[in-house]
Amino acid sequence: MPSVIAGTGHYLPVQCLTNAMLEQRVDTSHEWIVERTGIHERRIAGPTENNVTMGVAAARQALQAALLDAADLDLIIVATTSGDYAFPSVACEIQAQLTSRPIPAFDVGAACAGFIFALSVADQYIRAGTYRNVLVIGSDVLSRFCHPDDRNTLVLFGDGAGAVVLTAGEQGGILSTHLHSAGEFAQLLGVKHAARQAAEPLAEAWMFMQGREVFKVAVTKLSELVIETLAAHQLTPAAIDWLVPHQANMRIITATAKKLDLPLAQVVTTLSYTGNTSAASVPIALDTAIRDGRIQRGQKLLLEAFGGGFAWGSALIDY
Ligand code: ACO
Repeated sequence: MPSVIAGTGHYLPVQCLTNAMLEQRVDTSHEWIVERTGIHERRIAGPTENNVTMGVAAARQALQAALLDAADLDLIIVATTSGDYAFPSVACEIQAQLTSRPIPAFDVGAACAGFIFALSVADQYIRAGTYRNVLVIGSDVLSRFCHPDDRNTLVLFGDGAGAVVLTAGEQGGILSTHLHSAGEFAQLLGVKHAARQAAEPLAEAWMFMQGREVFKVAVTKLSELVIETLAAHQLTPAAIDWLVPHQANMRIITATAKKLDLPLAQVVTTLSYTGNTSAASVPIALDTAIRDGRIQRGQKLLLEAFGGGFAWGSALIDY
């Protein structure tokens, strides 16, 4: 049975970090950040917020929109790479908050592409008839992994969570997912695991990123990916109502939209006020456009994301 999106939700921290505030901390400017990325501000998790609190808030919204109770869930998958613990998983912590039923819960780690990977896993379970109602969350606090003096990463990342409840439906829903990885690029973008950090010099204990190289590969792979996704269904770009891209950089988004000949009016962006929220970025954008009425039932959506690994993926959805 196809996996249908029954409900969506998202959570953004209240605390706001503007470009003007960053100008006070590092050698950068509002103009540079906006011109190179499209980001004006980002939300930063406060001391009482983390992937669990944000993920639970997004999940409750998604369950409410789906008219389901947490007790109806059969599986929870959380896309994240910034949990407080190596284990237990964020998913297990969220499961404990939502339900007393011992349903399976696990994390998927594919950095900024994590939500698409998690969605794909959930879709396989539903198609196979193993589970009926699956909660998929993307949640990250990558602002905590950016060195306070590193203008390269600091300007890009914000925190947040997004959630989708998938349910076994009759028709439509997720038409296909397309996943790729290229581990040979591992050293261009990453965060060393917390347990290893104590043994490393300070400079190596934070997120490392070769932005220009990441940018080039992201643009190339995402352009190939959207064409691959359409070709799998013999569709032309005109069939797409909405592109819901990973929110990393406006120039990457624009390049992907151009490949599809899609006007920016049909591209959902939250980047200017969220920054890059990693695994949360696609479900935050998706929920935003569903809640404000832009995305309507029956429309065709193309979701895509690219991130550390490198890992990248897409989902074609009949909403
Ligand atoms: N503020 C001001 N100046 C800066 C900053 C900053 N924050 N960062 C770099 N600069 C300077 C550089 O030092 C360089 O100066 P120079 O010309 O005197 O040497 C100049 O700006 C240009 O630097 P580039 O790195 O070439 O700038 P670029 O146009 O590539 O933009 C950016 C940098 C925004 C990081 C871009 O490469 C990018 O977005 N890459 C993708 C990275 C990314 O998205 N990572 C997230 C995870 S992966 C993903 O989600 C897709």
